[in-house]
Amino acid sequence: MNSETDIALQDWALPGEPFRLLAVALDAADWAERLPAEARARAERFTDPKARARAGASEWFKACWLPRELGLERVEWKTGAHGKPRPARAAAGWGFNLSHAGDYVVAALAKATSIGVDLESLARKTDMAALGERVFSESERALAQAGGREAFFALWSQKEALLKALGCGWANGNIVRNTRLEIAACQVEPSTRVRVWSRRVLDGAYSLAVAIF
Ligand SMILES: CC(C)(COP(=O)(O)OP(=O)(O)OC[C@H]1O[C@@H](n2cnc3c(N)ncnc32)[C@H](O)[C@@H]1OP(=O)(O)O)[C@@H](O)C(=O)NCCC(=O)NCCS
Repeated sequence: MNSETDIALQDWALPGEPFRLLAVALDAADWAERLPAEARARAERFTDPKARARAGASEWFKACWLPRELGLERVEWKTGAHGKPRPARAAAGWGFNLSHAGDYVVAALAKATSIGVDLESLARKTDMAALGERVFSESERALAQAGGREAFFALWSQKEALLKALGCGWANGNIVRNTRLEIAACQVEPSTRVRVWSRRVLDGAYSLAVAIF
């Protein structure tokens, strides 16, 4: 395995934020050659080159970056009921989550919390009205309709980050229907008490949200 110091990591956290937030462009490395065998095999299941690079960069964060960051030989993982991978054993005191979109993968890390991160490309083709019906509460739908594409993606990334922090994904319809997210740089969502940070990154081309529970 190569040393990791040559990878162009982008630090997306703002001063004072209670988490680390690091991103990589998919073309920043040949991910497969850096990965331990098991992680490489998982990434190499994908035949599409972009999907493979996404999986490779994600595996790199979990198998290479995180252990180095925590000063551990390796990080062990536990998978939650809805598929959320959580650091276990020696790393159990840490919250970690990652998101892939477009040409980037972003990872979020915070101590003693459950964290969720979501990145969405504003170029992504989607039927906003139909998706909004499924994923937003009434108040969020009204904000998305009034604010157009930028508002839609801001709210969508916030909602994904919140659900990822809770670890329930879209499976918990009650939470999905009852949140009252707003267009704000930082907020506490009233129905879940999850803290959510939100902004655009990469010259406004992507919506980013981080949530902590
Ligand atoms: C899995 C889910 C939480 C996020 O997925 P996504 O937005 O498609 O993908 P992202 O790139 O943002 O995040 C994927 C990463 O989140 C992590 N993850 C997987 N399940 C998770 C969960 N339940 N909670 C938090 N994080 C999760 C993984 O690390 C995954 O990456 P990896 O497989 O490379 O390790 C969400 O799609 C989900 O709950 N899906 C269930 C199916 C569904 O109802 N989908 C409708 C979407 S409109």
